Amino acid sequence: MSDIKARPIQRLGVIGSGTMGNGIAQVAAASGYDVVLFDISSLQLEKAVQAISKSLSKLAEKGKLQESPEGILRRLKTTSQLSDLKPCQFIIEAATENREVKFKLFSDLDQLLDPGVILATNTSSISITEVASHTRRPEWVAGMHFMNPVPIMTLVEGIRGLATSDECFQIVRSVAEKMGKVFIEAKDAPGFAVNRILMPMINEAFFALQENLASPKDIDTAMKLGCNFPMGPLELADFVGLDVCLFVMEVLHRDLGDSKYRPAPLLRKYVEAGWNGRKTKRGVYVY
Ligand code: CAA
Repeated sequence: MSDIKARPIQRLGVIGSGTMGNGIAQVAAASGYDVVLFDISSLQLEKAVQAISKSLSKLAEKGKLQESPEGILRRLKTTSQLSDLKPCQFIIEAATENREVKFKLFSDLDQLLDPGVILATNTSSISITEVASHTRRPEWVAGMHFMNPVPIMTLVEGIRGLATSDECFQIVRSVAEKMGKVFIEAKDAPGFAVNRILMPMINEAFFALQENLASPKDIDTAMKLGCNFPMGPLELADFVGLDVCLFVMEVLHRDLGDSKYRPAPLLRKYVEAGWNGRKTKRGVYVY
């Protein structure tokens, strides 16, 4: 039995300083946690701190922060040594969406950290039960899926693996709520709730584009003005990353075994071309 209850969570580790990791680290620090942000690349960490500073300044200008960006940044440390996470009581992993990378990280974290430390993963599509099986503490592993951009989007999907304990899940919920997020619970099934519904819609938009149903702009306008979406599905695919959309569709197709989830050939073609969206300056649109 862990002593985590007797030790309220104050020090939080975030793994991965890409878009999701830096957003999570920012919101955690702004919510009062002491945060250690880990990435193997120190260049990526520098970029993350710049992105966080920029986002905090924007939010400060609008009066949306309880304290100054400098005060928040003082609670954020960065490191490229995994061992610097040792004092953390709660970890949120937001490394690259690759099964082997995540499995290795969870195994390493399990070796490094005290037995009651919670290991949450921000995976958008990998089984939480399988991630947990790479540790000796599956009862302290859970899914904690944030949405992009993390500082703006209020949802967190919580996912229990087969062995996740109630106590672990309650702590995950309370950390998400302390970060100002609305927490919903979804089953440990492919895509959980958000991506199970969102990605087939994006995939369908690629089928529509492939069939010349309408131009990219008109497909997006249709969904923005017709359904009040803030972004059209193709614009959103560029924002999320076409490679990520394809990866999730492949997981849905493989694990649910239904042909309705087959990735649109045009989506696959764009990814083959390296047109992965905003991050590569070219996706459905050119940036
Ligand atoms: N930090 C601080 N402020 C930010 C920000 C950030 N990272 N990103 C956006 N903002 C602010 C902008 O400054 C702007 O503020 P004002 O309105 O006060 O000027 C506001 O948010 C709106 O931004 P923009 O004017 O630039 O553009 P927008 O009105 O189109 O909003 C958006 C941007 C919030 C991203 C909006 O388009 C949106 O909600 N899009 C849909 C996002 C979405 O669906 N995300 C989920 C993706 S799926 C996912 O994440 C899960 C997965 O596993 C793939």
